[in-house]
Amino acid sequence: MKSGLLTYAFAANLAVPLALATAITRRALDTAALANQYFGNDSPWYKDRIPFFTCSDTSIQDVYYYRWKVFRAHQRDLGERGYVSTEFLDDVGWQLEPWATLNDATGFHIGEGRWLRDRRFADDYIRHMYNGGNDRHFTDYTADSVWGPYLVDGDAESMTVHLNAMIDLYNQWNDSFDTEKGLYWREPLADATEYTISSIDASCGQDGFTGGYAFRPSINSYMWANAVAINKIATLAGQGDVATDFQQRADTLKERFQADIWNTTLEHFIDRYQRDTDCVKYWEPIRGRELVGLVPWMFSMPDNNSTYNPAWKNLLDSDKLKGPNGMRTNEPSYEYYMRQYRYDQPTGLRECQWNGPVWPYQTTQVLLGMANLLDTYDQNIVTKADFVGELRRYTNIHSLNGGLNIQEDYEPDKAGPIVGLPRSHHYFHSGYNDLIISGLVGIRPRADSVIEVNPMVPEGSDISSFRIQDVPYHGHSVAVQWDASGSGFQIEVDGAVVASSPSLGRLTADISSATAPIITRRIAKSIQLVRGDFPKGSASSGNDTERIHDAIDGRIWFFPELPNGWDSDASDAGSEQWYAIDFANGTQVNSAELAFFVDGENYALPKDYSIQQFDGTNWVDVWGDRPQLVANGVTAIEGNAVTTSRIRVAFTQPAGKKTRLVEFKLY
Ligand SMILES: *[C@@H]1O[C@H](CO)[C@@H](O)[C@H](O)[C@H]1NC(C)=O
Ligand SMILES: *[C@@H]1O[C@H](CO)[C@@H](O)[C@H](O)[C@H]1NC(C)=O
Ligand SMILES: *[C@@H]1O[C@H](CO)[C@@H](O)[C@H](O)[C@H]1NC(C)=O
Ligand SMILES: *[C@@H]1O[C@H](CO)[C@@H](O)[C@H](O)[C@H]1NC(C)=O
Ligand SMILES: *[C@@H]1O[C@H](CO)[C@@H](O)[C@H](O)[C@H]1NC(C)=O
Ligand SMILES: *[C@@H]1O[C@H](CO)[C@@H](O)[C@H](O)[C@H]1NC(C)=O
Repeated sequence: MKSGLLTYAFAANLAVPLALATAITRRALDTAALANQYFGNDSPWYKDRIPFFTCSDTSIQDVYYYRWKVFRAHQRDLGERGYVSTEFLDDVGWQLEPWATLNDATGFHIGEGRWLRDRRFADDYIRHMYNGGNDRHFTDYTADSVWGPYLVDGDAESMTVHLNAMIDLYNQWNDSFDTEKGLYWREPLADATEYTISSIDASCGQDGFTGGYAFRPSINSYMWANAVAINKIATLAGQGDVATDFQQRADTLKERFQADIWNTTLEHFIDRYQRDTDCVKYWEPIRGRELVGLVPWMFSMPDNNSTYNPAWKNLLDSDKLKGPNGMRTNEPSYEYYMRQYRYDQPTGLRECQWNGPVWPYQTTQVLLGMANLLDTYDQNIVTKADFVGELRRYTNIHSLNGGLNIQEDYEPDKAGPIVGLPRSHHYFHSGYNDLIISGLVGIRPRADSVIEVNPMVPEGSDISSFRIQDVPYHGHSVAVQWDASGSGFQIEVDGAVVASSPSLGRLTADISSATAPIITRRIAKSIQLVRGDFPKGSASSGNDTERIHDAIDGRIWFFPELPNGWDSDASDAGSEQWYAIDFANGTQVNSAELAFFVDGENYALPKDYSIQQFDGTNWVDVWGDRPQLVANGVTAIEGNAVTTSRIRVAFTQPAGKKTRLVEFKLY
């Protein structure tokens, strides 16, 4: 903890002389208490990493911390390859092997991760995406997403190293470019949105999981944003020709997009078909509005004028895109609105569709667009109260069965999730904390030496106070505080108030560029992505090989809904259990991390434990000094370096209980 924090903790708690009162309005948060309240024994992961936030709207505050929990749960440690973000907690059949990544929600993952004080997660993940991790399974806006962390940390180098890979990836999309029309097209399924108007109507209303190839607002705005990002990154890298090339590509694409994808009758950006079927013709517009028509504002792509801004009226109209439970992905007037076509085979439950349901994925995109609209566009259609209203509806969606659990998609016209499959729990397919930090609180990150804050909270709102602190920005630590009944609104940089106002509104201050914190990379030697290869796990009981693999697969979460890790068998009398890692040959290790899950019912912590190495004949203890195990958190064990081919954790299991080893890492 920095000494500056202690200073203001002191100031907040003690009576101070009146003369100092105006200067001392910083209400430093008790970050240890907040971490403990929200993360319990796992709080060490969060405490030096996340910005801390409080808000008079406690639902928003609760979801903010829940979303960091979701973020943490989806950080998969790949060992040498670093960390990536997963979309599903556990494996699904269509992920990219052996890493379990998918590229459609990458923008959200990086958007959230850019606000962490520990820059490793976003940085490793970007490296992964530009080193074989992006198979273009889905459309994406990754180059644009790489620009986002730069605006926060000011570290150009970690971005420009990927320039060639970005250009290469961009050019691969030529296979989805119609040179005559100057626009990109995609099958909706490969745009991460099955059962859109184009895919359903292309099938004559029969299905819509596949097909429906169309020139869409999504892919065209994504490619525009990527071209703009490549232009800016190439400029920073001193590659003027590349910058000019991509500026031209962006300009032409936007011109064609605004001319041909804007539909003057519907006042919305809508798809045009890219190929004929029995029921649709090339270049015809689809017959209704979809929420995706607002996605271009996520990148501030549409011109700032009264031709395009009216699209936002459709979001505010309850006969159109505004459903009682959130933003509809298309309108009730569409013939096949909410018709269910696809069901999960084993469970018979409804599968994912985009013909009406509320999707956190696109809700996030549209809220980011709405914040851009409110921040820089000249319009009076959407207000900050609309932003807060939609953010609250989105916040409410996180509640499930008395807890917080974000899933794929939701009923638009009543409460509740739609899909609800075993895979659905705590799904990382959307953003939230980026909306809080850059939207609600309104830190609008920028490349120059200015900090700008424009909260999306209107004057007179019932959001009467908030504070965010420990926000990394251009190598500094920033806090933003609003207190309607006291100190008003202010920005702090490194503990000093640099701008303030009695009321909410845009504030700016100069900020110097300091070096962003260096990234430290500890590499676990125990991680295994390929089942059956070395290092290999084995265990004293619980013969499910998949679950044995779980304990060395680099994933740590403690959510009870989806089991993660190796489970020992229960024993009435208690028993000796072990979990071993076989490296196949001598490997030097000097520390370990153990994560155990406990639920207060069937799973309990081991009674005692030791770390042992195999000396060729016997298992012998190493690292005599063993800290007490924690439940639903990580116990770190440090020792002397040992070189061994097999190492294990051995323990006594409590009577009548099982133990669940979520992860066993060796460094
Ligand atoms: C893709 O198209 C652009 C122009 O639209 C061209 O400059 C580039 O060379 C093409 N790249 C490939 C790999 O075809
Ligand atoms: C806009 O789309 C609708 C629905 O497909 C279509 O009937 C109409 O002709 C389109 N408007 C224009 C100006 O193309
Ligand atoms: C908005 O911008 C477009 C594209 O530049 C232009 O065609 C249109 O006339 C503009 N509309 C208004 C109202 O200025
Ligand atoms: C939009 O137009 C308004 C008024 O002309 C101007 O103040 C604002 O800066 C413009 N925003 C952008 C993003 O160009
Ligand atoms: C695994 O353990 C269960 C429960 O003890 C047992 O029923 C099953 O036959 C075992 N399977 C194998 C492959 O050993
Ligand atoms: C260590 O074991 C692995 C897996 O069997 C093997 O591929 C590798 O060659 C071995 N390395 C040495 C130095 O023996």
